[in-house]
Amino acid sequence: MTSLELRQINKNYGAYHALRGIDLSVAQGEFIVMVGPSGCGKSTLLKTIAGLEEISSGQILINGRDVSKQEPGDRGIAMVFQSYALYPHMTVAENMGFGLRMAKRPKAEIEAAVQRAAKILRITDQLEKRPKQLSGGQRQRVAIGRAITRSPDVFLFDEPLSNLDAALRTQMRVELSSLHAELGATMVYVTHDQVEAMTMASRIVVLNQGVIEQVGSPLELYRNPDNLFVAGFLGAPRMNFLGVTVDEVSGRNVTVSAPGLVPVTVDLAEATVLAKGASLTLGVRPENISMVADGAQGGAINGAVRLVEHLGRETILYVDAGNLRTIASESGTGNITVQLSYVAPFAADQNVALKLDANELYLFSPDGGRTISVRKTTLDR
Ligand SMILES: Nc1ncnc2c1ncn2[C@@H]1O[C@H](COP(=O)(O)OP(=O)(O)OP(=O)(O)O)[C@@H](O)[C@H]1O
Ligand SMILES: [Mg+2]
Repeated sequence: MTSLELRQINKNYGAYHALRGIDLSVAQGEFIVMVGPSGCGKSTLLKTIAGLEEISSGQILINGRDVSKQEPGDRGIAMVFQSYALYPHMTVAENMGFGLRMAKRPKAEIEAAVQRAAKILRITDQLEKRPKQLSGGQRQRVAIGRAITRSPDVFLFDEPLSNLDAALRTQMRVELSSLHAELGATMVYVTHDQVEAMTMASRIVVLNQGVIEQVGSPLELYRNPDNLFVAGFLGAPRMNFLGVTVDEVSGRNVTVSAPGLVPVTVDLAEATVLAKGASLTLGVRPENISMVADGAQGGAINGAVRLVEHLGRETILYVDAGNLRTIASESGTGNITVQLSYVAPFAADQNVALKLDANELYLFSPDGGRTISVRKTTLDR
């Protein structure tokens, strides 16, 4: 059953077009995670669903009802923000029951709903405290509890964990996933955190400048990005992009090279029309680059280590590959990022030979960065 449906949502702030023709259909019980760069419209989209912002055009349906013109309180949604926004003069129990009190529900019903939510969130012993007597994680649980008591059709979360420290975030991430499983409710969740997106989502929505770039399961998006933007956005450290030229096309096999890159052949899995001499962008994830002794074999790059990050179980290298043209985005360093899943004793300025895994290469067209290499792996997740 469709729980939430967005049809051609547009939002203008004066001349600024913040959301551009958003179409999305969310099934009952799905956990949708929305990601995208700062300012791409994530909060705006949640606020339009919640009714806190009016849409300029389009339609929002919740359980088949058109709620586009309804007041926030009538839509059957509950929203949890980054800042907990609890009432300081009320107890935890009063905060959690607030929505139901406003809706003039009977006292017994409010009491039962608060107890149930408190039990789910394990804050039963905190109900008489005031917000200032709670830790950040407990406060965020109260904010979530306030949403649960209203039994909404759809939960909206806008970066609810970003004020918490790393350990608490991990704990709350696991708790939110269990909460989702327990309630079976539809959730739309905005985050900047790659791990949250990859681990919590049934499907990830990648937004960019008010447009949906791609929607799919976390692994689908990671393995089969539709375009250069999605490929570069998901994954940390991010995918490396290199400017290359087509040397040879033979059926599904395309050989590309660049000054500083020994020619490498990519199997496209589908024959594609590509002209010899065409300029393309080659993408390779940092984990698909390895160290080799011989820097002359296909797919090899010779360079010098600029920076080493020892993370314990893995080592990240930033390698300057001389005149090889790396295409840096806002988060790019201009160096090639290599992620080794072992402790490696590299030092700055050391010369190294890298090799790209030919089975894990992506090719992107120059026009808008559409992905032209088709992955061979099928995913059943
Ligand atoms: N009330 C407003 N008036 C005018 N412009 C706005 C308003 N609210 C948001 N915008 C603009 O709309 C765009 C999207 O903002 P939004 O808050 O949705 O971004 P976001 O994706 O949530 O970013 P972040 O990750 O930083 O929270 C931004 O360019 C922002 O400046
Ligand atoms: Mg935001």
